[in-house]
Amino acid sequence: MFSERVDPERFETLIELNTLINSDYSDPNSLLTRIVESATRLTDGEASSLLLVNPDNQRLYFEVAIGSKAADVASFSLDKGEGIAGWVFENNRSLTVNDVQEDPRFFADISRAVGFETRSILAVPMRVKEQVVGVIEILNKRGGKPFTEVDLWWLEIFANQAALALQNARSFQRVRDQLDVLSDQITTEKGYHTLISRSPTLKDRLTLVSRVAPTDSSVLILGESGVGKELFAEQLHLQSHRNSGPFVRVNCAALPETLLESELFGHVKGAFTDAASDRIGRFELADGGTIFLDEIGDVPLAIQAKLLRVLQERSFEKLGSSETRSVDVRIVAATNRDIERAVDEGSFRRDLYYRLNVLPLYIPPLRERPEDITELAEFFLKRFNAETKKQIRGFSEEAVETLLSYSWPGNVRELENAVERAVVICQDEYIGPSDLVLHTGERGSDETYQGKSLKDSITQFKRQFIRSTLERHRWNQTNAAKELGIQRTYLSRLVKELGIKR
Ligand SMILES: Nc1ncnc2c1ncn2[C@@H]1O[C@H](COP(=O)(O)OP(=O)(O)O)[C@@H](O)[C@H]1O
Ligand SMILES: [Mg+2]
Repeated sequence: MFSERVDPERFETLIELNTLINSDYSDPNSLLTRIVESATRLTDGEASSLLLVNPDNQRLYFEVAIGSKAADVASFSLDKGEGIAGWVFENNRSLTVNDVQEDPRFFADISRAVGFETRSILAVPMRVKEQVVGVIEILNKRGGKPFTEVDLWWLEIFANQAALALQNARSFQRVRDQLDVLSDQITTEKGYHTLISRSPTLKDRLTLVSRVAPTDSSVLILGESGVGKELFAEQLHLQSHRNSGPFVRVNCAALPETLLESELFGHVKGAFTDAASDRIGRFELADGGTIFLDEIGDVPLAIQAKLLRVLQERSFEKLGSSETRSVDVRIVAATNRDIERAVDEGSFRRDLYYRLNVLPLYIPPLRERPEDITELAEFFLKRFNAETKKQIRGFSEEAVETLLSYSWPGNVRELENAVERAVVICQDEYIGPSDLVLHTGERGSDETYQGKSLKDSITQFKRQFIRSTLERHRWNQTNAAKELGIQRTYLSRLVKELGIKR
């Protein structure tokens, strides 16, 4: 009896998958896809899918879909109890339906919407410790044949495998999250920051850093405020042979001229009125390591001359002293200013700019790298969860949409603050859009328009409203026009007339 059911191909596949499940926890989706593919092949199905429950809203979504309409199916989700899959989920029982038209539980909407004719379904629950976490279903046995009891039996085995794979992946993820938090704490204790990079752009920049770091060349980091320039400066130091030496930060914009000069180069007693004793400058403190000159664009011209000399000769004199000192320092500078313009206008020395700009490193604003937005949000959530001893599990779908459609003028710093506040405010398992306080500044309150003529107010409203719609659609005018209910050509004219710029 049993031997009839023993099919060598099926057993081989099962053993293969078992090996995979025990070796690869890092990418659950590709593992689940492999399992569902095998299950489909071995039950002679035309198409299949694996649905998981979203704990956020208790709906079943398509984690894996295989078949001619797979890509279209992905955007659908089912309520618990809706359709055959929903029934299997809710009742925690397997089901074979060989003629869906005869079964009132069949939910025809998805098939109809994607243009797939479903005839028969085999659906089984996926269980982790007795609890249903999802459903695997196989559609249409090939050759118009009915699904058999043996097919069902095998699918149940595969569903168990899939559940195991999922469970492994989730525990692995939990451990990895804890590791991330610990590693972030250690990095912070050492005085550095954890740098998160998900977007291809940022990964490219990091590759560049790994190539440039071992050299002693000066690097000029450019980019808006809050994009992470300081973190890149840290990486240049940490990935260099100087990493056991000091990393010294100087914010050149924070001090008036004389103080900045003595901060950088030090002074001897009596060098100026308040110089009551000798002082070691930052360049000397950075000897054997790296000095990070932040906001270099704000350095007064007089100090720029001295900096140029350090860059050329690695030597300088303390204020009030004629003794020349030499240091072995790597110089990394950063600015959010348009430094080329400063050079053209004469407020920044051209020769110093050329010296610094040997290796320019531009960090793009956060709004241009959406992959980093979600990754950073998750990272900050873990950090603030740990700090506040909360256990918020993530961001709701709407919250993610809110994060992605915002333009982040304050870049990562603003995102970090937004998540910190959200963690404090949030009362649920998931952060929702109302927990995120973003400075959209486009919510036209009465005050915005006070004292303005009706015409001016309307123009201002139009400008803000169109801008925020465009931002939400990542500046895709066709989609924005659709939402606004106007022609694309009209939108494009309005954009020009109102002077809306990206
Ligand atoms: N890629 C990143 N990963 C993690 N945190 C980041 C990242 N980029 C920026 N931050 C955080 O954002 C804040 C601003 O970064 P910072 O380097 O000071 O920006 P900038 O120097 O460009 O003004 C810091 O608190 C930093 O920890
Ligand atoms: Mg900074």
